[in-house]
Amino acid sequence: MKRFLLVMALVIPALARQDERGLDERGAEIFAAKCAGCHGGGARGLTVETDLMRSTAVRTDQTGPVLRAGHPKANPVPLSEPEQADIAAWLHARVQAVADRGKYPFLNILTGDPKKGQAFFAATCARCHSVTGDLAGIGAKYDPSVLQSLWLSPRRRRGAEAVKTARTVTVTSRDGRVVAGTLERIDEFNLVLRDQDGKYRSFALHDEEPKVEIHDPLQPHYDLYRVLRDTQIHDVTAYLATLQ
Ligand code: HEC
Ligand code: HEC
Repeated sequence: MKRFLLVMALVIPALARQDERGLDERGAEIFAAKCAGCHGGGARGLTVETDLMRSTAVRTDQTGPVLRAGHPKANPVPLSEPEQADIAAWLHARVQAVADRGKYPFLNILTGDPKKGQAFFAATCARCHSVTGDLAGIGAKYDPSVLQSLWLSPRRRRGAEAVKTARTVTVTSRDGRVVAGTLERIDEFNLVLRDQDGKYRSFALHDEEPKVEIHDPLQPHYDLYRVLRDTQIHDVTAYLATLQ
């Protein structure tokens, strides 16, 4: 009996801890695995748009219904009911923590050092962009938060300028036939491309076949996300804002 009590004395606090951990860290873990790739660590977003601390839906605690209805933008991220609840609880705690600290990381965007931003631009961006060419006067065109989201996550162009950001794709079937073109649409099951003749061609996607290679001109920007630090983001935005 004594030994049983001793065991329980060890087990019960462990269970309690696990439960506590449950609320806080389960949500954090699921978020890190399934959402942070687009919404950033701490749900602060990779761009102003994906900053969930800014989201009215999240602030008003509507995350549960939002997630149940399917994800608003991305392909639905499959989540079980308990996972939804964990994420909703964790996001709610994050909103509270951010509010309690009384500061908001993106509120004051122009906190960076434009000189450092200029040096970073020369080293990292200038091989593709020019401040007297395509980015001339960009600081005058947009307010700082839009400017920041624009370079952190450039929009895919439409209409006459679509070609600037069009993804190209090569599809190789098992028998070696190759079809290349502009990627129109892709999801888990299908791919649609437009070939040189302007014809739409659709392919069913299976595990290994056909082989698909996509070239995305915006890929360098996505790759940048992963390595940029907050200070670099602020420095670059501060620099771009001086391009009047
Ligand atoms: C592939 C990228 C991607 C992934 C993965 C992703 N999201 Fe999103 N999410 C977005 C984008 C883009 C938006 C739209 C932002 C906008 O334009 O308002 C969005 C919007 C949202 C919104 C709505 C915000 C609002 O104010 O309407 C919620 C809530 C949300 N995401 C939660 C999640 C959660 C939770 C996960 C993980 C289970 C997740 N997202 C995974 C890209 C993603
Ligand atoms: C390997 C090439 C490459 C690198 C490196 C690169 N970009 Fe880009 N960037 C692009 C392409 C391609 C586009 C889409 C072109 C367009 O929409 O005009 C783009 C779009 C942009 C846009 C949006 C322009 C607009 O008017 O919508 C901004 C701003 C921008 N990049 C800034 C930067 C900054 C700042 C860096 C460095 C931190 C950088 N880019 C690094 C290729 C690159």
